[in-house]
Amino acid sequence: MTSPTPLRPLGSAGPQVFPLGLGCMGMSALYDDADRGESLATVHAALDAGVTLLDTGDFYAMGHNELLVGEALRTAPPALRERALTSVKFGALRDPDGGWTGYDGRPAAVKNFAAYSLQRLGVDHIDVYRLARLDPDVPIEETVGAVAELVEAGHVRHIGLSEVGAETIRRAAATAPISDLQIEYSLISRGPEERILPTTRELGIGVTAYGVLSRGLISGHFSRDRELSATDFRAHSPRFQGENLQHNLELVEALRTVAEGKGVSVAQTAIAWVLSRGQDIVPLIGARTRTRLAEALGALDVRLDEADLAAIEKAVPPGAAAGDRYPEPQMAHLDSER
Ligand SMILES: NC(=O)c1ccc[n+]([C@@H]2O[C@H](COP(=O)([O-])OP(=O)(O)OC[C@H]3O[C@@H](n4cnc5c(N)ncnc54)[C@H](OP(=O)(O)O)[C@@H]3O)[C@@H](O)[C@H]2O)c1
Repeated sequence: MTSPTPLRPLGSAGPQVFPLGLGCMGMSALYDDADRGESLATVHAALDAGVTLLDTGDFYAMGHNELLVGEALRTAPPALRERALTSVKFGALRDPDGGWTGYDGRPAAVKNFAAYSLQRLGVDHIDVYRLARLDPDVPIEETVGAVAELVEAGHVRHIGLSEVGAETIRRAAATAPISDLQIEYSLISRGPEERILPTTRELGIGVTAYGVLSRGLISGHFSRDRELSATDFRAHSPRFQGENLQHNLELVEALRTVAEGKGVSVAQTAIAWVLSRGQDIVPLIGARTRTRLAEALGALDVRLDEADLAAIEKAVPPGAAAGDRYPEPQMAHLDSER
């Protein structure tokens, strides 16, 4: 009998979770169209494999993603449904054409967002609730204070943060207990190492890492020939453009050599590297199919020793990526980049 996968703590204030979370965004939004039936099957397969954390956002296709996660929960066998922990982002504002029009972290807005999310998800509480991007017009204390009131009332269990920098993390943690910071972190996005990870570690805050495969770029499955629709995030992401893409895919080929030497896939190597960065880090996997999910789960069996880590860092040294991780207007919203 195989022993169960050890859980990881989402900070000292949060729950224990399976070491990989399932990011559900790509099942509704931002990448090419996903298959609804396969998305639901992927959520069920993830829960069946032991995954606990399901990450979504109310603005992912304007409620579509929460409805999808809600359906997956409703149609899951009870034992799997009980295992699921919902992690929900709020605050990003959309228009009817899908445009992004800013952020709203006002306390009344927080409670309004939560009321709709609870309804769409079909749950009586949200496990981790977080503002997606800092609202420059609302002090973080006010937004976190509003989520703390939702915790007090039983509608939310834990307070998370997303893409904020060290100073904001400190102010939030001084307001209420914070379970985890969600932030992009991967072999080619190592910005959090400088100031953010030392701060979360000092304060006992966990990290849910997204973009661990840099949105598929370093998965080993992405190629220059891939056609992207105008609504696909990657069609506008600096890392996926022209010479940047060429350079970044060369890094992937160097990583592939290391992966093949270990008999594992490129994606598994990239995920295992993030897993190796600390027990406080839980990678969110953006799998949209059971095949991709199975590959990602395989990363849990990859052991990276000192020589492997050195070979990986040689293939993809810190700062090696060409291009920012978001288009310029979106970079401007990242408190974490200040
Ligand atoms: N807090 C924030 O600001 C923020 C921002 C973005 C995302 N997130 C969260 O983080 C989650 C993950 O982010 P992400 O989608 O950018 O993650 P990612 O894991 O870097 O990229 C996911 C993409 O990689 C490709 N892929 C190739 N092999 C894969 C494998 N074995 N397993 C999984 N994916 C594979 C998939 O594309 P194909 O399906 O085409 O193969 C998939 O769409 C999201 O779902 C969302 O919940 C949070």
